[in-house]
Amino acid sequence: MKIHVYEKAFLAVGLGVLIACVVALVYASLAHGVHLPGATGRVDPATVLTTPPFDRPGVYQRGPEAYEVVMIGRVWSFQPAEVRVPAGVEVTFTATTVDVLHGFNIEGTRLNMMLIPGQISRNEYRFQEPGEYLLICHEYCGLGHHMMYGRIIVEPPGAEVPLVNVAAVASAAHP
Ligand code: CUA
Repeated sequence: MKIHVYEKAFLAVGLGVLIACVVALVYASLAHGVHLPGATGRVDPATVLTTPPFDRPGVYQRGPEAYEVVMIGRVWSFQPAEVRVPAGVEVTFTATTVDVLHGFNIEGTRLNMMLIPGQISRNEYRFQEPGEYLLICHEYCGLGHHMMYGRIIVEPPGAEVPLVNVAAVASAAHP
């Protein structure tokens, strides 16, 4: 079978693009730890606020180099709205929603999750640079969507951070 020279060229370009995409995918997942957050558990949306760990959202130290941030998304805020973690440690974000679908996106990082009613979303991240990181809801969730944000304040490595574990407020904010 004779293949026209231009056709060969297009095939080669197509194959090249395909290989480049596979290489980029493997590189992103191995070198940068980019992966889809898996479904890590379920929680009854009706009883989220009385179900551990969501009955006390906040920052927990789970080991010398490991922290967990438990967070709730609701119309139209994150609870807690501001947390502090040290740089250089592994931070696991465990989050869910008590009402509608929300987004959970921390700017400048690969942390990008959906908060789905009934589902626990979990993802880990190691902040290398101290500073203030904006957490935004990036799924339209109603009138106050644009006001739904929080702050992750990353302290210098080794800093003591307040382990703020607040009792979840049975919300007056519910519509
Ligand atoms: Cu929550 Cu948009």
